[in-house]
Amino acid sequence: MGLSVGVAGLRFGMSWARVFDAYAETDLVAVCDIQQEKLDEAKEQLGVDACYAAFDDLVADERIDAVAVFTPAPLHAEHVIRAIRAGKHVLCAVPAALTMDEAKALVEVVSKSDRIYMMAENWVYEPSVVRARSLYEARKLGRIYYAEAEYIHGLKALRRHPDGRLTWRNSLQPLLYPTHGTSPYLNMTGDRLVEVMAVSASGRDEFLEGYEADWVQTALFRTEEGAVFRLTNSFQNVHGMSHFLSFYGDEGSLETGRFREARTVCYYSLGDKAQVTREECHHPELFQFSDALGAGHGKTSMLIVLDFVRAIVNGSPPPIDLMQALDMTLPGIAGLQAVRENGWVSVPDPRSWF
Ligand SMILES: NC(=O)c1ccc[n+]([C@@H]2O[C@H](COP(=O)([O-])OP(=O)(O)OC[C@H]3O[C@@H](n4cnc5c(N)ncnc54)[C@H](O)[C@@H]3O)[C@@H](O)[C@H]2O)c1
Repeated sequence: MGLSVGVAGLRFGMSWARVFDAYAETDLVAVCDIQQEKLDEAKEQLGVDACYAAFDDLVADERIDAVAVFTPAPLHAEHVIRAIRAGKHVLCAVPAALTMDEAKALVEVVSKSDRIYMMAENWVYEPSVVRARSLYEARKLGRIYYAEAEYIHGLKALRRHPDGRLTWRNSLQPLLYPTHGTSPYLNMTGDRLVEVMAVSASGRDEFLEGYEADWVQTALFRTEEGAVFRLTNSFQNVHGMSHFLSFYGDEGSLETGRFREARTVCYYSLGDKAQVTREECHHPELFQFSDALGAGHGKTSMLIVLDFVRAIVNGSPPPIDLMQALDMTLPGIAGLQAVRENGWVSVPDPRSWF
């Protein structure tokens, strides 16, 4: 018998439900969604018997050890808090929270509980980032004094429900979704983003089609270690989906590829050589998993699930616990405040909220 898991939110969450179902380490025992057709699909495809329309019914199911929260981002904090209070371990989709108040409420509840909280951020598991971290840990990059992260993803198709109602993504300000960009640098260096200034821009109004957020937001951060970090996010644009990361150290530098190559290609220069090496990166652990469970996110989700299970079984801290999740999330919330106030804003240290 593996760890008993219930999954809430069955769009992106459905691929996680498949992983929990396929793994020997976990048993998918229940799912939850407010849409009956999503529950029917999970029942048909995965044979799940316990299908709940209400989140409270899911967390009240005594057979469940852990809940995977893959509901819309505005519900993450509330759902995590309800699950932890019901005595469940929680794996939660990114971001951890959308406001400082939600983040404080999470700290209040999670810090008083013995349950595991882990944020399911895939970018620290991507092969190009794992390679960057291995060079950093082998001291080949030296001290990172400047790093960049860009996440450009037109999400037009996800802004309306099929019946025309607007989804939460239609008004999501880009900096409120920061963790794909912040997590690789923070996880690699252990640094913290402490202060931010940020600006925004948009295209012409006639192209808005009801979109309620800025087209692009760019934030510049000062870090605790004295580095500068730039984050650019855009969810409305005329551009192919692309991630990009760069790390400039005083002994070496590394950039990921762009577009489809962002996850698997990096370019680096080491020592005083101006020569650039291009490398295809592979995560050794990913080879053991079949493509049948999904590519891209699917494969990193398998590693995330294994780390989540290990943390619960061993009683050890998960790779991205609440403090790290908030170190990756709060810079975006403070960044949005900086856009609005047009000046430098401090990024709180969630450890000061205990
Ligand atoms: N790479 C990544 O890490 C990544 C990728 C995609 C999405 N996400 C995150 O995962 C979460 C889910 O994303 P998505 O694209 O599936 O969102 P979505 O809004 O498209 O789908 C959310 C699902 O949750 C269901 N739902 C809504 N309210 C609910 C409630 N109260 N109780 C139970 N179910 C409810 C909806 O019916 C829907 O099936 C988001 O927070 C998003 O930020 C992360």
